Amino acid sequence: MEMFKPYVLKDMTLKNRIVLPPMDNYCADNEGNVNDTHFNHYVSRAMGGVGLIIVEATAISQNGRISDNCLSIWDDSKVPGLKSIAEGCQKYGSKVAIQINHAGRKCTANGDDKDYTLAPSAIAFDETYRVPKEITKEEILDTVVHFGTAAKRADEAGYDALEIHGAHGYLISEFLSPITNKRTDEYGGSLENRARYLIEVIDEVKKYWPSNKPLLLRVSATDHLPDGMKVEEMVEIINMIKTKIDMVHVSTGGVALANINLYPGYQVKYAEIIKKECDIPTIAVGLIRTKELVNEILGNERADLVALGRELARNPFFVVQNAWENKIDYDYPAIYAHAFREKR
Ligand SMILES: Cc1cc2nc3c(=O)[nH]c(=O)nc-3n(C[C@H](O)[C@H](O)[C@H](O)COP(=O)(O)O)c2cc1C
Repeated sequence: MEMFKPYVLKDMTLKNRIVLPPMDNYCADNEGNVNDTHFNHYVSRAMGGVGLIIVEATAISQNGRISDNCLSIWDDSKVPGLKSIAEGCQKYGSKVAIQINHAGRKCTANGDDKDYTLAPSAIAFDETYRVPKEITKEEILDTVVHFGTAAKRADEAGYDALEIHGAHGYLISEFLSPITNKRTDEYGGSLENRARYLIEVIDEVKKYWPSNKPLLLRVSATDHLPDGMKVEEMVEIINMIKTKIDMVHVSTGGVALANINLYPGYQVKYAEIIKKECDIPTIAVGLIRTKELVNEILGNERADLVALGRELARNPFFVVQNAWENKIDYDYPAIYAHAFREKR
């Protein structure tokens, strides 16, 4: 079965093709510390046999948080907690990545300073969000440095892979999209200019992230809006940077409100386009709930890995349950061997 084929990316070998995509649990304290809920959540998915677990959006700075309750990686004190998640999951044979993020204009965390929230241009997401301050070149450099130190800490915490959050209308994605980037300097206008910030972040991260460990980039391949990012443009961007990254995690939307036609696997075509047009491995994600759809995507080589978000939230045992039901010889969690020896 396609789902259970191992996958190798640099020094990381996955035991199967199922990914837990980053999903913010919004349950950290105000300092973004890891707690028991985070640990139990991620380790349960590891016990359930998930091949690659990507830890939720983790803030590189205080004003890079989506909310007051996001995980953080903005100082060294966060390393032990984040390490406990990585080690806890690795114990059950999963590989673990962490997503590093700056929330840009979608930061809702409390900040005293009226200029707390930064974005390429001073345009609010909608009336419920603060109007961000247009980020200066000096502040751009600060955030780039923060992405680099976050990568260094992620390595120290023992993560197998790193995902840069370039999707869903957070800071990197805001630079990429013409809807949120109205700058007239070298960071705005042409596609090359809008991609400049992303490239600076990747280059800084690569100073600290070991070259033998995979570097993933999550993108919104389209904004689903006439004046927004189109997949053809995203293909051009990925082609610009593909020698610097190892895999693209292909999502869509989140930059501005849009009517999206939702159906099972609705984003898979974008993962397929980027895989084929850019010749780079991809992760497909979005309303994927069944083994049939997972195997269709992998069997037809539309993506290399498949991420199941809300399905794995509902059922952490999706992988081992499918292995058992399909009589796959699998490395079941030792303490549950009795259950998986049951006749089917
Ligand atoms: C509660 C929740 C939190 C999320 N947090 C993140 C996040 O931290 N980073 C991210 O890139 N995507 C995030 N997402 C998007 C998911 O990674 C995924 O792309 C989305 O849920 C679609 O996949 P699904 O239909 O399998 O759930 C989140 C989604 C949900 C439902």
